[in-house]
Amino acid sequence: MNDAVAGAWRKLESHQSKTLAELFADEGRLELLSGRLEWGSGDFAAGIQCDWSKTHLDADLIAGFEQLADASGFTERRSALFAGERINNTENRAAEHTAQRGVGKDSSVEEASALHLRMKMLVEAIHEGVLGEVNHLIHIGIGGSALGPALAVDALSRDLSLVDVHVVSNIDGVALESAFNACDPATTMVAIASKTFTTIETMTNAESALKWLAESGVSDPVGRVVALTANPDAAVDWGVDETRVLPFPETVGGRYSLWSSIGFPVALSVGWDEFDQMLAGAAAVDMHFRDTNGAANLPLRAAFADQYYTRLRGCQTRAVFAYDERLGLFPDYLQQLEMESNGKSVTAAGEPVSGATAPVTWGGVGTDAQHAVFQLLHQGTHLIPVDFIASIAPGDDLEPAHHRILLTNCFAQGAALMAGQTSDDPARNFPGDRPSATMLCDDLDAATLGALIAFHEHRTFANAVLMGINPFDQFGVELGKAIAKRIEAGGGEFDASTNALLGASGLTD
Ligand code: F6P
Repeated sequence: MNDAVAGAWRKLESHQSKTLAELFADEGRLELLSGRLEWGSGDFAAGIQCDWSKTHLDADLIAGFEQLADASGFTERRSALFAGERINNTENRAAEHTAQRGVGKDSSVEEASALHLRMKMLVEAIHEGVLGEVNHLIHIGIGGSALGPALAVDALSRDLSLVDVHVVSNIDGVALESAFNACDPATTMVAIASKTFTTIETMTNAESALKWLAESGVSDPVGRVVALTANPDAAVDWGVDETRVLPFPETVGGRYSLWSSIGFPVALSVGWDEFDQMLAGAAAVDMHFRDTNGAANLPLRAAFADQYYTRLRGCQTRAVFAYDERLGLFPDYLQQLEMESNGKSVTAAGEPVSGATAPVTWGGVGTDAQHAVFQLLHQGTHLIPVDFIASIAPGDDLEPAHHRILLTNCFAQGAALMAGQTSDDPARNFPGDRPSATMLCDDLDAATLGALIAFHEHRTFANAVLMGINPFDQFGVELGKAIAKRIEAGGGEFDASTNALLGASGLTD
């Protein structure tokens, strides 16, 4: 850690936090800590209100974190991200997911739009029946090759689904069998989504899907397969015809790949225009993040609060509750984005980090979660910063009471966490002063979903810069994979516990 960073942290550590109630005595607080992400214009203007006023950030902390951002080289790192420089230093690669949305190095943006055009043509050809009747898609992928598509299809295809999509990630055959049971093989296509085209779960599931098609009487099973990958040669070697291989650049990380051909199931399910809208919403946030300085930069400001709670208040988790059924998979998506990106113990330079890095991200949907886990948030001993996400426009056509009750509960929880309530009976006492932030969307359409995800990508990046770590590698996933391979190959002795488990399950017979 350089002296300027150490000095900025020392200053932040000496800050005496006020309570939320004390902070709200400042009349300008809401204005200071709210902001709006916006896109479109005129009748088509839309956005997300971002209210961080119920966090403990104040003007002093913001100034302190701005100093930390300067000392950490935030502006330079951000420029390097958008310029397509090799900021993923441990893998000597750029991180060019924003170019997929049209914001980045010119040559990368051009390459992305050419690849999108190819993907669009295939999607539209399938919709037009060029490949025969297609009613179902089994999308096989894992991690970043599954979580984004699953989230976006679930969020956007409730009113209109042109093709019924089933995302299968787990190697547990139960997952694939469920998809088989829901699909008519005669009208099913299979997408194999894998950046590397080597992931064992995905390749095993793909083989089984092909076998299922063949055994169900489909005459040319591999002719029903589309490959979504940064390793197109491997897909062709596997047997997929080149015309159905949709490549994406190596510089797009797995957990940042929804915008590339990995988003194929989204476009197939809801149509190209919706997919394009999702890219446009994300691009609006890219431009906000690229062009806004200091705490007015909303993802950076969110990262200030994240760093405050993790490093200065010792919070080990952060919770995200979407008061919207359509965002039920959002916490799962965020878990990979945040924990795989920033769950590190060394800096980009390979030095031990000087404090806690990514907290555990968890969450659920409101109001369900209120009746299950909110007890701990209100009265437990852990301090857990909470994010609420909601949409002003309802996602349903039922009586307005449904959406009214949903939103009032969302806002009531934030107010209750903050205000608390004093009681003479200790069991009924609420300490209050518990932080939350709220992202209130005008509507949850494709552009908004893109904006929400891009906001969190940039928030994750901003956190990484403030901590000095590289968010774009994930070597921590490798050791377990290597040991599984050794076991699979029948090699080696392990510890007594692992040997006993292998013996008991008959895997070493
Ligand atoms: O093992 C972790 C990981 O590499 C993730 O980063 C990635 O999203 C996932 O596996 C799937 O990888 P691939 O897309 O190469 O199959």
